Amino acid sequence: MRTSTARAYPNIALVKYWGKADEARILPAAGSLSMTLDDFETTTTVVPAPEVDADVLELDGTFADADATSRITTFLDHVRTLAGSTDRVLVRSRNSVPTGAGLASSASGFAALATAAANAFELDLDTRDLSRLARLGSGSACRSVVPGMAVWHSGDDETSFAEPVDAPDMRMVIVTVDRGRKAVSSRTAMRLTAQTSPFYDAWVSSTEDSLEKMIAACRADDFTTVGELTESHALRMHAVIASTLPPIRYLRPRSVAIFDAVAELREQGLEAYSTADAGPNVAVIVRPADAERLAAQLTEFGEVRVVAPGPGAELLSADAEVPAAEVSA
Ligand code: DP6
Repeated sequence: MRTSTARAYPNIALVKYWGKADEARILPAAGSLSMTLDDFETTTTVVPAPEVDADVLELDGTFADADATSRITTFLDHVRTLAGSTDRVLVRSRNSVPTGAGLASSASGFAALATAAANAFELDLDTRDLSRLARLGSGSACRSVVPGMAVWHSGDDETSFAEPVDAPDMRMVIVTVDRGRKAVSSRTAMRLTAQTSPFYDAWVSSTEDSLEKMIAACRADDFTTVGELTESHALRMHAVIASTLPPIRYLRPRSVAIFDAVAELREQGLEAYSTADAGPNVAVIVRPADAERLAAQLTEFGEVRVVAPGPGAELLSADAEVPAAEVSA
């Protein structure tokens, strides 16, 4: 074993993943498509600790709670099975996004962890197998292994991975409405949607249809169709989420106001389209030449960042190691 550090970026889905066909293997009920960003990264160092009897997780400089640690251990058990090892590790992870605030930090987190852990346990995985591995930590993480626009195929354990797809060049203007942790995790809300929404089957079949149209529009370099599909698919996801029992609503009044403002800007000739993951923050897609003009129009709603398509998960050299948490005496 060896100490390894990796970096990965979050992704924002244009066709959303919301529902599992298999909870244990994290196989999605339908395929999805996202853009990996060039900002809000996670850096993770995996340090071999064969002398200890439990994995240890340090998140943003402090020791993580039992729930977060047990999720990491469940994931690392997959890596240990592949490597034929029982060794425990120390995981040090640093996020530049607020954890759990709907900016897909579990995607960058598990993509970075999968990449660092695979190398630490000396597994020789290609991008496809790394994507399959990251999927076992968090579904959307399989797309963050891949740079730029990525499509995640539904299927079985072998065939469900993400790969790059050609797409129009675009930017996302991310408007942070709220930095707090969300009340209901994606995992829980997704399960509740499948169990209680009367619209769930229609959501899954319409997602397959949206994905097919989205891939065609991406390949045709058709920004307008990509944008229209993105916005309508996001609102459909939030509609199916609102139809659960008990109901869940992630969008805040200010999130909705951003969707309205973007629709109005579109009327005025600034072509842009909104989406939001399981949280109140809104990502607005726009052509590169219009990005700064759009960002200037959205500053009244929250902190605004313009992001571009980013790199896939990658290993970093030893100088990028995440430092150990300071233990107070
Ligand atoms: C709304 O990938 O976090 O961001 O597989 O249970 O870990 P688990 O869920 P997760 O869900 C992401 C949901 C989403 C949509 C998307 O990214 O496609």
